[in-house]
Amino acid sequence: MSSTLTQPAGTSPIDVVIMAAGKGTRMKSSLPKVLHTIGNRALLRHVLDTASSLQARKAVVITGHGAEQVEAACQLENGASLGLEFARQEPQLGTGHAVQQALPHLADDGVVVVLSGDVPLTQADTLFHLLAASGGDKLALLTLEMPDPTGYGRIQRGTAGNVQAIVEHKDATLEQRAIREVYSGIMAVPAASLKRWLARLDNNNAQKEYYLTDIVRFAVQDGETVVAHQITDAVQVAGVNSPVQLAELERAYQRGIAHRLMDEGVRLADPARIDVRGDLICAHDVSIDVNCVFEGQVSLGQGVKIGANCVIANAVIEAGAVIHPFTHIDGEKLGVTVGEGSLIGPFARLRPGARLEAEVHIGNFVEVKNSTMAKGSKANHLAYLGDATVGERVNYGAGSITANYDGANKHRTVIEADVHIGSNCVLIAPVTLGAGGTVGGGSTITKDTPPGSLSVARGKQVSIANWSRPKKAPKA
Ligand code: UD1
Ligand code: CA
Repeated sequence: MSSTLTQPAGTSPIDVVIMAAGKGTRMKSSLPKVLHTIGNRALLRHVLDTASSLQARKAVVITGHGAEQVEAACQLENGASLGLEFARQEPQLGTGHAVQQALPHLADDGVVVVLSGDVPLTQADTLFHLLAASGGDKLALLTLEMPDPTGYGRIQRGTAGNVQAIVEHKDATLEQRAIREVYSGIMAVPAASLKRWLARLDNNNAQKEYYLTDIVRFAVQDGETVVAHQITDAVQVAGVNSPVQLAELERAYQRGIAHRLMDEGVRLADPARIDVRGDLICAHDVSIDVNCVFEGQVSLGQGVKIGANCVIANAVIEAGAVIHPFTHIDGEKLGVTVGEGSLIGPFARLRPGARLEAEVHIGNFVEVKNSTMAKGSKANHLAYLGDATVGERVNYGAGSITANYDGANKHRTVIEADVHIGSNCVLIAPVTLGAGGTVGGGSTITKDTPPGSLSVARGKQVSIANWSRPKKAPKA
């Protein structure tokens, strides 16, 4: 997420606490809730990334349900920038009790931002504004008005409009339930004050839980000002409790990406029909037709056109290339490169290690894996190129394949510049086809071919004149 506001100079260091101990019963899943994904990244990963963009000193993740799995997932993907620590909360006695578990990890000089591992789409900007409202020395609550505030903690204000308390829905009077300003679940609070207030928590309430939200009352009792930073964008504070909410936030997230791409000049046939599950970087004048999915790291050069229904993962598509509909490209760890002005598909498949230089043509039902194809080479129909090195201007016929695997090992096929491979050939690797040579259709090539030669390796045609086909014997 981009941020336009940076941390105000001279304020206290930021420490983030992320509550992620809850069970997520309504997900009806064996996977801990915070490990469910949006844009193919765990909910908790989104929150950690937000913490990173705050330039937080550390993030303390409070785990409980599925703690080991959650902690392992955090470590696996953690960038170097963010100090990551864990605090276990067992059993889970409420949000106040959760944050109590993090206190030994928090230095007194910091300001603590409390986030939830299941609220993935909060923008760093919003948190910077919250921190600015806190000024590093006040409790600041992120709030919003909800048409239906059922279930949320209500912001109770005094006659002067000053925040007095948060009243949880289950503890609220009918009058309080009419309040539509709710606590989002996100606050910024000076660490030293947080420690003092959390020491005073009890669970004398409707849910017999230790409410983090009770610290508002304590601050007011201590004569301190509590500020509210109110936002209108509910998506930023929406939590995931069910598969329906997960899907809703996925759409919201994808809408955000689609709009960002369009702001950068990308032409999307329909912003509601693109999914980006990773990072998509586009140069100018890129156009993307409907129902395309981008995964991992994908970059599209100037003027690239992507046809409908393509799935493209971990690939670099260079300027002017056209990917026709229904093409599947997945570079996995090795990556795929499609050179300038290349034409791919429809119905093509590029696999890891496919390196296509400029103006390569790959047509329908052609699969390319771990192969380089030099400028202007073509495989237009129904073909397989695996572990091959293909020179410039090679024409690779329909139905031809490299037999690269002998059952135990993979071998290379080298096709030098200007070779013409006819249709339906089998090139049994390791084998080298010399520059400018021609291979007759239907050949099975097992030996190297000299440059400039014609090689034919198939049974000679025989025609028997006046041949009468066998006839069925008449029924008895
Ligand atoms: C909380 C707030 C409420 C606010 C709402 C916004 C409290 C008491 N109430 O209510 O004012 O309007 O969020 O969504 O804080 N968690 C733990 N350990 C626990 C309990 C919860 O880690 O013991 C985690 C949950 O996994 C979740 C987060 O804390 O990620 C919030 O807990 P949840 O139970 O959803 O709080 P609410 O009752 O919704
Ligand atoms: Ca909640």
